[in-house]
Amino acid sequence: MPFNYKILKTSTFRLAAIYLAVFAFSVGAILAYVFWNTAGLLERQTDATIRAEIQALADQYRLRGLPGIVETIQRRSGERGGGIYLLANAAGRRVAGNLEAVPPEAIDEAGWIDFPLDIKVGNEKQRRSARAFHADLAGEYELVVGRDVQELRQFRDIIARTLYWALGFAVVLGLGGGWLTSRNFLRRVDAITDASRKIMGGNLASRMPVSGTSDEMDKLARSLNEMLDQIERLMTGMKEVSSNVAHDLKTPLTRLRARVESALRSDDKEEFRAALDKTIEESDRLLQTFNALLSIARAEAGQSRDTMQAIDAHDIVEDVAELYAPIAEEAGGTLTVTAATDLNVLADRQLLSQALSNLVDNALKYGVTAQQPAPRIAIEGRREGPSVVIMVSDQGLGIASEDRTRVVNRFVRLDESRSKEGNGLGLSLVAGVMKLHGGALILEDNAPGLRAKLVLPLHTV
Ligand SMILES: Nc1ncnc2c1ncn2[C@@H]1O[C@H](COP(=O)(O)OP(=O)(O)OP(=O)(O)O)[C@@H](O)[C@H]1O
Ligand SMILES: [Mg+2]
Repeated sequence: MPFNYKILKTSTFRLAAIYLAVFAFSVGAILAYVFWNTAGLLERQTDATIRAEIQALADQYRLRGLPGIVETIQRRSGERGGGIYLLANAAGRRVAGNLEAVPPEAIDEAGWIDFPLDIKVGNEKQRRSARAFHADLAGEYELVVGRDVQELRQFRDIIARTLYWALGFAVVLGLGGGWLTSRNFLRRVDAITDASRKIMGGNLASRMPVSGTSDEMDKLARSLNEMLDQIERLMTGMKEVSSNVAHDLKTPLTRLRARVESALRSDDKEEFRAALDKTIEESDRLLQTFNALLSIARAEAGQSRDTMQAIDAHDIVEDVAELYAPIAEEAGGTLTVTAATDLNVLADRQLLSQALSNLVDNALKYGVTAQQPAPRIAIEGRREGPSVVIMVSDQGLGIASEDRTRVVNRFVRLDESRSKEGNGLGLSLVAGVMKLHGGALILEDNAPGLRAKLVLPLHTV
């Protein structure tokens, strides 16, 4: 696998490197402490013993003179496994002790000498490490007291080597771990980048890869996918709407054009006038359609959210009923209202009135049948748990259950209603307004007829 330098730049790797530094530092500190307390401790103890012995011998020289110290040194030199001793005169000649001469190795400032010591084991000579302290006895004699520290040095080396290995392992493992996690992270980022490139390249149906581990990357990929779903839905909706708009506005515009054209060809003033009147009428209808489309777009985009206020839907029900009651009566029908008070909702007054009006308008238009040409409309407003429900019921043909979802889309009109005027935008606006208010439009069977329900969240203060 080629070395991937990109990994060094990932934030995961950087984080891993920082952790590694801190980790290595603490491991190093712990190991140093361990060393200090094992090998270091033994060496310090040996040094202390040597110093104590030097002190004792110096005292002896002071108290008992040369014979005293010589006697002690000779005795101690003979002991097995004992120390290294040398008492030499000013000329450097041995007076007592088991060491030939003062070792030629450099004596450090404090007086310590580290030197190799050859000893006999059976017939063999062995070279071992020794450490001794060198002292001056009143300028007349030199005193050297030391120990064989071969084992101690070996022990120290073993401990030091172990500690270096441990530190090395920690660093290698840390680096490896950082490397692996970063590589994994980078791979997934690359996968997401690739997917987004593909999507930008026009493949809108493509989605971010989800590994199924539900970690942060998966969460990110999922929300990106949700966003893409939403965008795709909106784009499809847009396409549909624009083709619908184009299609549905073409007919009235063609009609308008034909009428004007034929009027132009005639010389009759009356016909001229009638054609112009019709043209105005038709333009008004077109304008109305545009306005309705704009209102739906605005409601769906949630633009009017800041015009929301706490209102009692009871008032809106009353207002709309008052407006439509005369129309219903004129058609020989009835419009009854039962609305509870305190139907508190957070709403845009104008949009909510418009939505309710659209429903009543539909009930007036479609709430009639051949057998029953007079519309019987009932508006009801009540609370249902955490919701406010406003219902408009009629006794017309109703909407078949399979059409109830589709009828809410823009420009959808059922075949039975072709004889009535309309654009098929009324229910779209109602649905848009409900969406804006966090509510829903529900169409139900009133047996006979349709029951359209506006369900809004109850507003509590
Ligand atoms: N109360 C109802 N009874 C039976 N069918 C209905 C009723 N309300 C709506 N519909 C059907 O749903 C279709 C869509 O209604 P919508 O209100 O969206 O459009 P429209 O009334 O045809 O036109 P617009 O409301 O834009 O003037 C209607 O054409 C009709 O077929
Ligand atoms: Mg309508």
